[in-house]
Amino acid sequence: MRLKNKTALITGGTSGIGLATAKLFVREGARVAVTGRDSSRFEALRRELGDEALIVAADVRSPADMRAASRHIGETFGGLDILFANAGIAYATPLAATDEARYDEIMDVNLKGTFFTMQAVSPILHEGASVILTTSFIIHVGRPGLSLLSASKAAVRSLARTWSRELLDRKIRVNAISPGGIDTPLHGRVGGTPEKVQAIKDQIASRVPLGRIGEPDEIAAAALFLASDESQYILGAELVVDGGISQI
Ligand SMILES: NC(=O)c1ccc[n+]([C@@H]2O[C@H](COP(=O)([O-])OP(=O)(O)OC[C@H]3O[C@@H](n4cnc5c(N)ncnc54)[C@H](OP(=O)(O)O)[C@@H]3O)[C@@H](O)[C@H]2O)c1
Repeated sequence: MRLKNKTALITGGTSGIGLATAKLFVREGARVAVTGRDSSRFEALRRELGDEALIVAADVRSPADMRAASRHIGETFGGLDILFANAGIAYATPLAATDEARYDEIMDVNLKGTFFTMQAVSPILHEGASVILTTSFIIHVGRPGLSLLSASKAAVRSLARTWSRELLDRKIRVNAISPGGIDTPLHGRVGGTPEKVQAIKDQIASRVPLGRIGEPDEIAAAALFLASDESQYILGAELVVDGGISQI
């Protein structure tokens, strides 16, 4: 019970990494709130996360949505010990073939969404809270066609440093997790047949020094470490969990 008596919000906690982390945090004793947009999944989620969990519809691109979610969570939980700003999207954006709408979509979810999540939630964070942002292995390497995904996540990496300073007087630690290729529904969201999605995952796996794609539980374990008091001397850092793809 490493999160006993703690409260946590996980944005994008309705799928993939966020959902795996929500389940782990519940098992470790936390009261957990998750947000996402697709409310058709909420009924099934309730069964997975239990009656104690708060499931809130909110779009991270909307500061008004995030303020409303923060108010609701603050009134129900009395404040937050942990924020995992995990909601994000990934699309290829080749230089010659990317329009403004796609630019806005990626930046709005990954960067603006993280910024306004933090702005909305900051007032209900307890002293000593742990904030975990989500970057990507892609920010450490150069992959053609992924410039906007990479740039949006590199900006998020920077936020972890600045916010750790900005919130130092409240002893709030802000760190980031940098996942490698992880086996989640994200890879299927660009469309394409199951075979095509599998081919993308196989291609990722072939580049990973450990020889396989990662599992959502492996990121959840890192999030648990950063969320818990075991990491109390770590702030402004990025924990790389990518099978070595960005490091060796
Ligand atoms: N999987 C990987 O290989 C990988 C690698 C590096 C980094 N990451 C990062 O890890 C994080 C989680 O990704 P995942 O792989 O778990 O993806 P996923 O399975 O697609 O889950 C993404 C989550 O974010 C939510 N979300 C997306 N857009 C949103 C919006 N505008 N407002 C609110 N919620 C939104 C989704 O809920 P709704 O659809 O209901 O909105 C969903 O709960 C992302 O930040 C991603 O960039 C993933």
